[in-house]
Amino acid sequence: MNEHVSCPTPAEAPVDRPNSKKVFIKTYGCQMNVYDSVRMGDALASEGYVTTEEMGEADLVLLNTCHIREKAAEKVYSALGRLRDMKKARAAEGREFLIGVAGCVAQAEGEEIVRRAPSVDVVIGPQTYHRLPEALRKARAGKAVVDTEYAVEDKFAHLPATEKAGIRARGVTAFLTVQEGCDKFCTFCVVPYTRGSEVSRPVQQILDEAKRLTESGVREITLLGQNVNAWRAAGPNGADWGLADLLYRLAEIPGLARLRYTTSHPRDMDDRLIEAHRDLRSLMPYLHLPVQAGSDRILKAMNRRHTGAEYLRLIERIRNARPDIAMSGDFIVGFPGETDQDFEDTLKMVEEVNYASAFSFKYSTRPGTPGADLTDQVAEEIKAERLERLQALLLKQQADFAKSCIGKTIDLLLEKPGRMPGQVIGRSPWLQSVNVDAKTSQIGEIIRVRIIGTGPNSLFAEPAESLIGA
Ligand code: 5AD
Ligand code: SF4
Repeated sequence: MNEHVSCPTPAEAPVDRPNSKKVFIKTYGCQMNVYDSVRMGDALASEGYVTTEEMGEADLVLLNTCHIREKAAEKVYSALGRLRDMKKARAAEGREFLIGVAGCVAQAEGEEIVRRAPSVDVVIGPQTYHRLPEALRKARAGKAVVDTEYAVEDKFAHLPATEKAGIRARGVTAFLTVQEGCDKFCTFCVVPYTRGSEVSRPVQQILDEAKRLTESGVREITLLGQNVNAWRAAGPNGADWGLADLLYRLAEIPGLARLRYTTSHPRDMDDRLIEAHRDLRSLMPYLHLPVQAGSDRILKAMNRRHTGAEYLRLIERIRNARPDIAMSGDFIVGFPGETDQDFEDTLKMVEEVNYASAFSFKYSTRPGTPGADLTDQVAEEIKAERLERLQALLLKQQADFAKSCIGKTIDLLLEKPGRMPGQVIGRSPWLQSVNVDAKTSQIGEIIRVRIIGTGPNSLFAEPAESLIGA
């Protein structure tokens, strides 16, 4: 998960009418929040709001928050302090300025937010944001609205579909949430409490959204879910479909060249999903499959419900099915009770898997999770030291993987203009950013390129002979 993802320009800004109200959405946390910000922007567009990237010109500021690690709530409260001052200045001008808090901090803190930050007008949870326009209308009447119930109705069924022009404005790759919530209850994690239990979106809703995205120029869709490979729903004729079935079906959509999904749990990586990696050329050879730790003792304490050896065997099967697959993962160092030996086991696991990229974090105590009650917490400086060693190893693996790409000819999906004129940035099948000389009019095409070099966070390529997709 990346923290502080910048605002993804949620709704299109079609005609910037001088009188239209402006919303600034600040997105924290994971891709699911990025997707939710887009959908909230859509919901607000139907209320006459256009999105802005300038907080200073906004009439509504919405913080879409993340609660996965410590200090998240504190960061939100300090941002709210700054917004309170803005609100006062606006009030002096006689201009409306509304403040909303959405996402997982909203869900976890609820009323407490309004108590601590009375300038907040709306607190809305991840399951109720389809009711955001209504909440804003009520808040305008003067009283703050807190709506963090787990709504009985399906929010997606109540949200307006994204305007095609809006999709186009956002580019050729898109996220599509297919699953929310988690039933795994890893002992360190707040997700089962903030996002609730697992819910899968129905097949037809997903297919309609994927078609709409593709018809508007999207070439690559990343299916999202806190536990995406646990997605299950009724397929045609009532058949029980898992994520693999959904991927096979999505792969038939004309123009949809690339599919990805994230984030997965090792226990839900079934045979059919592995077969999908073998069979589907449009399913990109990149898999984010967090293991969190390498020691069986810690995996058990984390309630991951698999061993290190089982994880390694799984990866072997996946690699047998799709030999060019690049592995990615998440790691936590300093879970309560983690000894030097346990940490060495994590390093050993990383050596054995050889990750193309990975995220790693110091364990952060989350109130309300079982991990918070454990007494043998690891000292902060030990966590810091372990994280540094782990990250050095992961960064080296990432750099080695990038270097191993030099000389390869690959397919590149051209995504956006590069920093230099005449350059375009694309994505490799393994999710790396690649700079290549191309025309911006080619954005959306998949071209063959040869990798010729690596930079700190990206690769450099030159066009190879043939154009394979338009
Ligand atoms: N402390 C540190 N990292 C955490 N993650 C989840 N909960 C915590 C926590 N309490 C990490 C896990 C997860 C990723 C999204 O965030 O590695 O896979
Ligand atoms: Fe959290 Fe574990 Fe569920 Fe992932 S699988 S969201 S880490 S509880």
